[in-house]
Amino acid sequence: MKLRILNYWMMGFMTLLVFSACNDQTIKLIDKRYGENSTMTKKILVAYGSRAGSTIEVADAIGKTLAAGGAAVDVKSVKDVKDIKIYQAIVLGSAIRKGQILPEVTSFVQANKTELQKLPVAYFIVGMTLRENTEEKRKIANAYLDPLRTMINPVDTGLFAGKMDYSSLDFISKVIVKYLVRVPEGDYRDWTVIKNWATHLLPKLGIIKNQT
Ligand SMILES: Cc1cc2nc3c(=O)[nH]c(=O)nc-3n(C[C@H](O)[C@H](O)[C@H](O)COP(=O)(O)O)c2cc1C
Repeated sequence: MKLRILNYWMMGFMTLLVFSACNDQTIKLIDKRYGENSTMTKKILVAYGSRAGSTIEVADAIGKTLAAGGAAVDVKSVKDVKDIKIYQAIVLGSAIRKGQILPEVTSFVQANKTELQKLPVAYFIVGMTLRENTEEKRKIANAYLDPLRTMINPVDTGLFAGKMDYSSLDFISKVIVKYLVRVPEGDYRDWTVIKNWATHLLPKLGIIKNQT
């Protein structure tokens, strides 16, 4: 009898795993270059970590805004960054999952700590905690960045509300956010807030227009 119940549990678990694997969405990473014709010799890297794609779009908007301010900018996944020595400033962004920065973003800071210490670095995060813009939620979101802050202290941090689209999630993540944590669907990203943050970031990154 016990064996039969165990078998049912195993079958249920395997079905969940299969569903999860089948439903897994692959996201389209971007690798872009903005402001190529800029007279500025200083170059900024905007590197991101994302699971469902919304942080990529935020990174892209930040890259475009920095370039509109006169900078030469590369926007790419942290996983695709080969050499940070060619950059004079770094902007690092991560989606938040289960109260944490994505592991590849933390690993990136760990692996490049020595170089990053010599550069102005800014962080931004994208998460659903921030869909309510209260002091309490901002405090919670700000604490997500503590593991990065202990390694490299940033010149600025952007805390942005994210996007929840159940169809972009694998089966298990969908069950967690929809039925257990009950996070509502919706796109809470405020592009004005995101672009304003990027506009004010340039001087903090040590990049001043018309500087060559
Ligand atoms: C499984 C799961 C866990 C999440 N956990 C958190 C969390 O702890 N805090 C938070 O603010 N947002 C959380 N979110 C929301 C995401 O951070 C938000 O949807 C973000 O826009 C996702 O970025 P991405 O599309 O680049 O992956 C979670 C989302 C999922 C699917």
